[in-house]
Amino acid sequence: MNIPGYQWVTERATGVPVGPAYTGRMKSIAEIRKSYERAELDESASLADPLQQFEQWLKEAISSEVPEPNAMTLATVGSDLRPSTRVVLIKDFDARGIVWYTNYESRKGRELAGNPYAALQFHWVELERVVRIEGVVERVSADESDAYFHSRPLDSRIGAWASPQSEVIPGRTVLVTNAAKYAAQFLLQPPRPPHWGGYRLKPDTWQFWQGRKSRLHDRLRYTQQDQGVWLRERLAP
Ligand SMILES: Cc1cc2nc3c(=O)[nH]c(=O)nc-3n(C[C@H](O)[C@H](O)[C@H](O)COP(=O)(O)O)c2cc1C
Repeated sequence: MNIPGYQWVTERATGVPVGPAYTGRMKSIAEIRKSYERAELDESASLADPLQQFEQWLKEAISSEVPEPNAMTLATVGSDLRPSTRVVLIKDFDARGIVWYTNYESRKGRELAGNPYAALQFHWVELERVVRIEGVVERVSADESDAYFHSRPLDSRIGAWASPQSEVIPGRTVLVTNAAKYAAQFLLQPPRPPHWGGYRLKPDTWQFWQGRKSRLHDRLRYTQQDQGVWLRERLAP
């Protein structure tokens, strides 16, 4: 049988086959390896402005139809100095930074209130590419949050009211009950909850990683200098 980790077992005393069981005899994860050979990232071919380089790679990720090309990992650090990560969706980007939306009272919201430094990471597996972005985070304007909130489907707008994100809840019923309550209260026009809105990370460092053969990957780091000039350096993989 071909399911990893499962084998057909027989009863030890009688030798009678009893069926498939998990034996843990899966290929070791340490043996899973891949050679990265799809593309390269060269100093001369990369763009001088990291925002433009990012835009080019994001467009390629979207046109390549990789799954969820807009998903990025967001790392924040709490007041206890412990880092934490979660996935969020990029909703906008320009020279001011990278935007996502969330609950301001969530764990990430609380951590950003105490420490605005954060990092983002895109991993486009099929393209063998990673983009890492570091910088300072601030809330987007209320008008910007309103505009995005009102562009969302109705159930997502109700969901923003229904979920006390990151809080412990006694069961799923809480969410379903809250959703029904707010749907009845707001009908088709839920306002943006005061605890929900956007953040913008203003990058001061970008890093572009392109997998290459024999683990000799390409890594270009862009660091912001004075007057908006970016220093581009190659890092050892
Ligand atoms: C693909 C994907 C996209 C997500 N997008 C968002 C998002 O845009 N905003 C958000 O608040 N949570 C999003 N989530 C849920 C978060 O990963 C996370 O569970 C939630 O924000 C709570 O995180 P926190 O407790 O660390 O604050 C997404 C999850 C996945 C898997």
